[in-house]
Amino acid sequence: MPLIDGHGRKHDYLRISVTDRCNLRCLYCMDADGIDQTSHSAILSYEDIVKVVSAGAELGINKIRLTGGEPLVRKDLVELIRKITAVPGIKDLAMTTNGTLLPHYAAELKGAGLNRVNISLDSLNPVKYRSITRCGELHDALEGIEAALQYDLKPVKLNTVLMKGINDDEVLDFLHLACEKPLHIRFIEYMPIGDHDHGYSNHYLPLDHIRATAKNAGLTLTPVPLPGGAGPAESYSITGGKGTIGLIHPISKHFCSTCNRLRLTPEGSLKACLYWQDEEPVQPFINDKKALQALIKKVLNSKPAEHQMDADGKCGAVKPGKMRTMSRTGG
Ligand code: 5AD
Ligand code: SF4
Repeated sequence: MPLIDGHGRKHDYLRISVTDRCNLRCLYCMDADGIDQTSHSAILSYEDIVKVVSAGAELGINKIRLTGGEPLVRKDLVELIRKITAVPGIKDLAMTTNGTLLPHYAAELKGAGLNRVNISLDSLNPVKYRSITRCGELHDALEGIEAALQYDLKPVKLNTVLMKGINDDEVLDFLHLACEKPLHIRFIEYMPIGDHDHGYSNHYLPLDHIRATAKNAGLTLTPVPLPGGAGPAESYSITGGKGTIGLIHPISKHFCSTCNRLRLTPEGSLKACLYWQDEEPVQPFINDKKALQALIKKVLNSKPAEHQMDADGKCGAVKPGKMRTMSRTGG
């Protein structure tokens, strides 16, 4: 029986946040001094993560994404990748990463069965990259992107959160990058995640002008399906380009009607929606597969038809103090 929620959506995708820790401090993701980190003992073990994956796989979950925080700061992540790859029914294993540690790990990750990566990159300017990430070095991320291409973690997608007055002047540079390299650059609308504003109200920008920027530069964007599945992105090829451009509009055009994902937080709570406060801990049921499967179905049944987060930064469905930061949910 496939996992179908109360709104008729089939679910086959689980995103697992393996840690809320990160070696960067992106300004839209956390406060400058980081977040209150979950203690190591409260983090779900690899063994328990695999139990959730196995229970889900029997119900039709076939696609897994590891996220964080930064997944590669968790010790022995390669071991988890090996274990997940071995679960019957899992066909696709991807990871979202800031890329800075990929030069060190890409070969090992590929060998363990990781299929592909999404790399966060919000600026191609070293000074701006440092100010957005508050501590990162652009060349580390660029070397990570090269390592992903070299070790075939493809299609390599880049996540670029567009922020008014911060990186909106770099759209053309990113379009040119998609012309030069086989990279799939996805511009993402800034989302008001977490209890703090993080500058959202000043920097939110819809993505409407990207097509105009391309056109003015003599670049034609043509709609295309993306290898590996586009998810919520509208994808375009670009004149003469090796890569593609994607537009992801979580705020201005909700894509909730096609949502196929469930989430597992670092300390092991299942969530049906990124922007909903409801969550259920897996730990009490971890050694009982049937009970775990019942919990997965319960979470799915409570999934809202759509989120209520709007461009004014308010999220009607979440009580103050209850909104997790992105690093504590998994992007
Ligand atoms: N708005 C939009 N995207 C975000 N991400 C993290 N926080 C936000 C936010 N507030 C994206 C980053 C990263 C992924 C984990 O989630 O681009 O690639
Ligand atoms: Fe780290 Fe990603 Fe958050 Fe940036 S967005 S601080 S790289 S978890």
